[in-house]
Amino acid sequence: MTIYLREFKIFPSMGNFRGFKDLLGLRFVDKDFISEILNQAEVFLEVINRPNRKLPTLRGKTVVHMFFEPSTRTLSSFDLAAKRLSADTISVGTRGTSIAKGESLLDTLKNIDAMKVDLYIVRHSASGLPHLLARNTDATVINAGDGTNEHPTQALLDMMTLSQLFGSLDNINILIVGDILHSRVARSNIFGLSKFGAKIFLAGPPTLVPEEYRLLGAEIVRNIDDVLSEVNVIMALRIQKERLEEPYFPSIREYRKFFGITKERLEKLSPETVLMHPGPVNWGIELDYEARDRVRNVILRQVTNGVAVRMAILYLFLVGAQQNG
Ligand code: NCD
Repeated sequence: MTIYLREFKIFPSMGNFRGFKDLLGLRFVDKDFISEILNQAEVFLEVINRPNRKLPTLRGKTVVHMFFEPSTRTLSSFDLAAKRLSADTISVGTRGTSIAKGESLLDTLKNIDAMKVDLYIVRHSASGLPHLLARNTDATVINAGDGTNEHPTQALLDMMTLSQLFGSLDNINILIVGDILHSRVARSNIFGLSKFGAKIFLAGPPTLVPEEYRLLGAEIVRNIDDVLSEVNVIMALRIQKERLEEPYFPSIREYRKFFGITKERLEKLSPETVLMHPGPVNWGIELDYEARDRVRNVILRQVTNGVAVRMAILYLFLVGAQQNG
């Protein structure tokens, strides 16, 4: 049995941003922490819409990408965020580095630390890995997705998108549908959105929807057609074939029938209903192609906001932080 509500201790050692050296998840942070990031992100959103998108803010700072899992959006978004703030960036993944020669991750960390760097962005298939690294370096560690635990920057960009659309987060009724069990995106969104009083419905094959999320105030729905007219946001999640070691549901066809946002369901939806997805999308499974043409499909807006949110995080942890204390 998977333990999905694992405790991770957070060490607010350096007090860089609101008492936290690292951004490891949204579980243990408060509303003000999230709001300050979202407000700062709105400022940077204006910057990235200018013809000249570069600011000198992080000149002299070094950001290290440590990605041990495939990533398109998150890696390029963090990289652009760092570059638009004039930070230097290097990349230490498995391919082409000594990790492929068997060097332990902590050894790698110590060696990169010795070169004097400021911030690590970590993605790894092991839940809790960024927490381990954070405890072994004085640099800031940002979690860019750890196993099935958290993906805080994705949830922050989702929350930014929702607050732009709805003005605040307390009037949101969101259906998160799919593989909730393995989804770090769902977990971070549940932790984040529930702090602001959003109403969260969860749906998916019963084997993939942990009952424990009721403890966080989420409601579990068995039949999505019962709530589609009630919610103002639908967040579809990817069926994560790489994380499904055992068959959790009979077939993709059956999944689509019960939990897919199909053409038929889209036709019945209010045109006001917002459609979100963290990407990458398996079109034709969790979302039918017709979803692309909907006015309130905000999938690419999420991606744009992602750069602004990550600029805000880099700025607050590296610069704003020092000024605060
Ligand atoms: C997600 C991830 O990697 O957790 N993608 C992302 O970061 N945009 C979701 C997924 O892989 O399905």
